Amino acid sequence: MELMLKAAASSLIQDENFHKVTARLLSEPHPPGGGPGNDPKASCNPFHYVEHGLGIAPEQGELIYLLCRWLSTKRVAEFATSTGMSTLYLAAALRDNGGGVVIGSELVSAKAAAARRNLRHAGLLDYAEIREGDARRTLRDLGGPVDFVLVDGWPVNDGPSLAREVIEIVAPQVRIGGYVMNDGAEPDFLEFIRDPANGFLGLMLPFKVGMELCVKVD
Ligand SMILES: C[S@@+](CC[C@H](N)C(=O)[O-])C[C@H]1O[C@@H](n2cnc3c(N)ncnc32)[C@H](O)[C@@H]1O
Repeated sequence: MELMLKAAASSLIQDENFHKVTARLLSEPHPPGGGPGNDPKASCNPFHYVEHGLGIAPEQGELIYLLCRWLSTKRVAEFATSTGMSTLYLAAALRDNGGGVVIGSELVSAKAAAARRNLRHAGLLDYAEIREGDARRTLRDLGGPVDFVLVDGWPVNDGPSLAREVIEIVAPQVRIGGYVMNDGAEPDFLEFIRDPANGFLGLMLPFKVGMELCVKVD
C-alpha cells in the first residue's frame, strides 16, 4: 500500500487501478543474483523465469508514457511483454491519447497470460494484443507502420543479441518520426542504430546499464 501511494503521488498517470497493479508487480521477488543480464552464472532460458517479471523500472515507464503522449502514439510494438509492466505504461498512454494498440510479444505462455490478467485488472486490456511465441516470428508483420517500439531484450549465450535480431525485423515497420527505445544497450543493437544506412538517430540515456532512445529519420 505504501509503495503504491508513493508511486502514484509522483506519477503522470492518475489511475488507482493502474497503480494497484504496478505496485503488486514491483513487490514481486527478483530471482537470486538478479537473473540473466545481472548474474553471469544465471540461466538464459526464459522458461526458468516464469515467476519473475523482470520488468522496467517505474521511472522508465513514466518516460515511456510521457513520450507516447507527446508523440500522440497510436500503434506500438514491444519486445518483450513478460508479465506486462511496460505494456501497462504503453497501454495507459494509448488510452489517454484516445485509443490505439500495443502489439506485445512473449515466448512464455504463462507470462503472456499473466500480462493479459494484469492489463485486465488495470482496465487496459482493450489497448493490447499480446502475441505468444518467438518475437522473431510474431513481430514480423505488425499490420502497418508503428509509432513507437520498446526493445526490452533478453540475453542469449552466443550469436547476435535478440535486441539486434528484433530491431532488424521491426525497423522497416517504424514510421518516419517514430521512436525506438532499447533497455539494455546491447552493443550489436547500438551498432545497427549508429549505422546511418539504417536511418536512425540515437541517444544513450542514463537508466540502468543504459537505455537508448532513437528516432527514425529516413
Ligand atoms: C526483460 S523481460 C521483459 C520485461 C517487460 N518489458 C516488462 O517491463 O515487464 C524479457 C522477456 O523476454 C521474453 N523472451 C525471451 N526470448 C524471447 C523471444 N525469442 N520471443 C519473445 N519473448 C522472449 C522472456 O520470457 C522475458 O519475459
